[in-house]
Amino acid sequence: MAYYKITGGKRLEGAVTISGAKNAALAIIPAAILCGESCLLENLPAIEDVRIVEQILQSMGAEVEHTPDGSLRLDPSGINSYSVTGEMVSSLRASYYLLGALLGRYKKAEIALPGGCAIGQRPIDQHIKGMRALGADIVIQGGAVKASAEKLVGAEIYLDVVSVGATINIMMAAVGAEGTTIIANAAKEPHVVDVANFLNMMGANVKGAGTDVIRIQGGRKLHGCTYAVIPDQIEAGTFMIAAAATGGDVVINNVIPTHLEAISAKLMESGVSVTEGDDGREFFIRVTADKRPRAVNIKTLPYPGFPTDLQQPMMAFLAAAQGNSFVVENIFEDRFNHVPELAKMGANIHLNARTAMIEGVEKLYGAPLVASDLRAGAALIVAALAAEGTSTIRNIRFIDRGYEFIEHKFKALGADIERIEE
Ligand code: EPZ
Repeated sequence: MAYYKITGGKRLEGAVTISGAKNAALAIIPAAILCGESCLLENLPAIEDVRIVEQILQSMGAEVEHTPDGSLRLDPSGINSYSVTGEMVSSLRASYYLLGALLGRYKKAEIALPGGCAIGQRPIDQHIKGMRALGADIVIQGGAVKASAEKLVGAEIYLDVVSVGATINIMMAAVGAEGTTIIANAAKEPHVVDVANFLNMMGANVKGAGTDVIRIQGGRKLHGCTYAVIPDQIEAGTFMIAAAATGGDVVINNVIPTHLEAISAKLMESGVSVTEGDDGREFFIRVTADKRPRAVNIKTLPYPGFPTDLQQPMMAFLAAAQGNSFVVENIFEDRFNHVPELAKMGANIHLNARTAMIEGVEKLYGAPLVASDLRAGAALIVAALAAEGTSTIRNIRFIDRGYEFIEHKFKALGADIERIEE
């Protein structure tokens, strides 16, 4: 098992380039099933979860090939299995996208119930509600979701909960339904828009992605295409927070600044300088911090609110801020598992249901730490980089799931971080 060894107290300085968005890639790869033709997918992040999805599609009969520049040529025409169960599938939350893609194309699917980070119960009732509204018969048996339909017919679907996964999954199935589907109370995250853009590139007719109401004209003939995934909003936010936490000066390249407005606003509120610009080719954001941050309050909300995936790294930053910060986690009911680890470093955080009260301390100190999930792992890296002394972080396989070459990127910014294979 590998672990990180980090000696903190060094200002991060320099430039980092953001990779493709994990949560867009994990939906777009299965979505290519809908067109049944070869697609070239570019700017995919080289992370564990993407590798797992590729392996799952290969196991179903799809052809998967990496081009020299790291793009993925995917030909789903050879898919001959609509049942994907087993460890690989159940370990991955995003495996639920196979439901919408297989149902949309083949009108049948059997998928192991999804796994993913332990941050709450994470039901898929809204996914199922949407598929049933389109005419699918769905049963949950033996730890798997079994879905089938004579045909899918467009429907009006109101999501009881703003759900990224349900919005994307229903969008995919609706592409294979005859007639018009309307998804109301839809999620508006950048990766929802990215998936809709990909579906339209394949010849679908999806309108309104990025707003509360998405309209899909289904039943159209789709074709293969080339598509580049957007930059990862959460990776960019993680590096912005790490730069601020270490009092650094970092240029973050290949970002879409509008996707980062919530995190930029909160960092500026804490006294950090955040500027944006473009070098004629791509946008960048520069984060500069030269004094101890002020405490700020955070409420996680669906986009464009403060993203839940940055709540944990942000708490690591606020642990050493001046004053008391309140963080309310409105999206997941159990997303504070990083707090006991931060406490080992001297953080003073009080939890009460979905609210954390962070009493800022002068500084954090290195300690032996254990990551409990992907973004908790990111939070521990941020804390260890800012802390005085040396920390170790175990269970970094969680971090490998969602961040491409993270130790190399931090090392290039001057961090003293080492990946040690035991
Ligand atoms: C996606 O998870 C992301 N994962 C998560 O990122 C992200 O935190 C989340 O969206 C919110 O932005 C992927 O895209 C693979 P939801 P998802 O459905 O789709 C409840 C990361 O770190 N809900 O928007 O599972 C649910 O319990 C990961 O990259 C239902 O009640 O999130 C949660 O409380 C972590 N019923 C809320 O909605 C449903 O059918 C939002 O969940 C579906 C969801």
